[in-house]
Amino acid sequence: MHQNKFDQFKSIIATSFESKKLISLRLLDNKSGDIDLKQIIVKPIELKTGYQLQFVFRHKTKDITKNYTLDDALNVIEQNLLESFHQSELITTTEIQHLSRTNTNNWKIKIKTADSQLKSLVHNKQKKYLIPASAPYLFHLGVTNESGMIKSAMHSKFKQINKFIEIISTVVDKAQLSKEFSVLDMGSGKGYLSFALFDYLSRENRDTVSITGIELRGGLVKTCNYISNICEYDNLNFVESYIQDFKVENLGMLIALHACNTATDDAIFKGINSNAKYIICSPCCHKQVRNSMHEDGAITSITRHGILKERQAEILTDTIRALILEAHGYKTNIMEFISSEHTSKNLLIVAKKSQNLDKPNPVKVQEIESLKAIFGIKRHYLQELTKI
Ligand SMILES: C[S@@+](CC[C@H](N)C(=O)[O-])C[C@H]1O[C@@H](n2cnc3c(N)ncnc32)[C@H](O)[C@@H]1O
Repeated sequence: MHQNKFDQFKSIIATSFESKKLISLRLLDNKSGDIDLKQIIVKPIELKTGYQLQFVFRHKTKDITKNYTLDDALNVIEQNLLESFHQSELITTTEIQHLSRTNTNNWKIKIKTADSQLKSLVHNKQKKYLIPASAPYLFHLGVTNESGMIKSAMHSKFKQINKFIEIISTVVDKAQLSKEFSVLDMGSGKGYLSFALFDYLSRENRDTVSITGIELRGGLVKTCNYISNICEYDNLNFVESYIQDFKVENLGMLIALHACNTATDDAIFKGINSNAKYIICSPCCHKQVRNSMHEDGAITSITRHGILKERQAEILTDTIRALILEAHGYKTNIMEFISSEHTSKNLLIVAKKSQNLDKPNPVKVQEIESLKAIFGIKRHYLQELTKI
């Protein structure tokens, strides 16, 4: 078989990988007897052991992931192309190369440049996102596709993840992190933020930063641990537990994004109790305060409109959460962390411990009580938890 084009293709894989221009490589069109193996997707990955290539062997019903050094990767690619796959697509930051086997069993290469798909990929790679779209865990989490493009349904999620990390980068000085910095992600769900935060915080501190995602849905916990394992993120783990039941010790940061209703309060309470340096949460639904607002007095003019009652309850719930944090020595900011066109749940409470107090600040406690009296709030769940 004529090998020139084939060798040329292999050497482009090697040089694009070494110059960090490789975005992805796919082996397609399996003509061997093993029709179960649909394609092989290859992407660069930064591991503790160095810069390597991660292979996802995509079968009909399962994915098998393996990491290889460049030399081993080239051998695996060669073997699979010679024995099974008849086509390959290589995407780099400058071009898309398409290798295919001809009817006469030779190889040919087609080169495409300035393609709109490529422009978009390069744009994503060059745009100064703190979390690059090329990060392999984004592919495993289903945010990006085989070619390294953000899936159309996941654009908002990708923006949200990046915005969250952008805010973290302004609040947390990575150089000042304590030697052993541990983070809890309460209600971690599919793990988008736990992975992104781990990627961001641990880039220079892989062995000292640890993140644990707490999630009540066992299936999600299992999937997240699987992905963490294949990315070799030893210090990123997920535990199946209710937030309320999880025993917290030595906490650097607590995050809780869109943990439902009072789960946000349970999370904040764990953060306050364990003296976390940072507590960052984006509240979800606010049913508890809404259900405990008096329906009489001056406030009736507002609460008789369902939507206004809902918004009023949201504002009051989060204002009181901020006051409770302040009463415990946290400097607190509430900000919009992403435009409301992406999600209506777009507030972020950012609290940083600034004082160690013997007892809750009485001025703040008084403020909470006045607010509750004015707006006819019978109870606030976080206030009950913190007993102030
Ligand atoms: C809306 S999702 C958000 C997931 C993730 N934080 C994110 O922003 O992508 C909320 C998650 O919190 C979990 N959750 C809700 N209440 C919880 C509780 N009390 N303990 C543990 N997990 C909880 C849910 O199962 C769900 O996966």
